[in-house]
Amino acid sequence: MEVEVALRRVQIGDHAEVLAVFAAAFPQSGVEELAITEALWADSATVAAGCLVAMVEGAVVGAVIASTAALHPGGGRAVGLGPVAVLPRLQGRGIGGALVRASLEALSGEGVVVVGLLGDPGFYGPQGFVAASDRGVKAPVETWGAHFMVNATAPHLEATFVYHHAFGVDAEAT
Ligand SMILES: CC(C)(COP(=O)(O)OP(=O)(O)OC[C@H]1O[C@@H](n2cnc3c(N)ncnc32)[C@H](O)[C@@H]1OP(=O)(O)O)[C@@H](O)C(=O)NCCC(=O)NCCS
Repeated sequence: MEVEVALRRVQIGDHAEVLAVFAAAFPQSGVEELAITEALWADSATVAAGCLVAMVEGAVVGAVIASTAALHPGGGRAVGLGPVAVLPRLQGRGIGGALVRASLEALSGEGVVVVGLLGDPGFYGPQGFVAASDRGVKAPVETWGAHFMVNATAPHLEATFVYHHAFGVDAEAT
């Protein structure tokens, strides 16, 4: 069945529905993803342009969160992408990919230089991401390897990516 999907920025009134999508989509009911997202909101650390919901018939069915991040040494504005999820019953219809691409485009339009994420290269590669090491960007956690990715449009930098502390991964700045 074809569904009509609309993407728009997250509004405060969407928060409960966004958390419900994460709870449904992630293992262990999204405990970690919910905690991170709530901590980002509490700290006003989300980046509005990159936080999007996918709507079907007036309900939130997918969401992507973008948050302030840093590069050490500094190399321009950096944003962390994620969590991102789509309700299980609507996965595999292009909604997740559309959310990620739209978020990336909006962030680029706002002058964000590096968008970093931890995820499956099989999904994020086609959405415009490459292994961060291809751009000289070190992951906050070395063992993330090729699963730590940045936007393909990022310049070559010799820097370490640092997430907002809500993620609980404190990179050692070099
Ligand atoms: C990952 C997720 C957001 C993708 O959303 P989706 O709407 O199902 O994805 P799409 O339909 O846009 O898929 C785009 C492409 O990526 C592929 N893909 C989707 N999930 C994938 C995965 N986990 N690994 C590899 N490829 C994946 C699809 O097969 C599709 O390929 P195609 O265009 O060749 O058919 C969704 O499956 C989800 O919510 N998963 C649970 C939560 C999660 O793991 N989030 C990501 C954390 S990094």
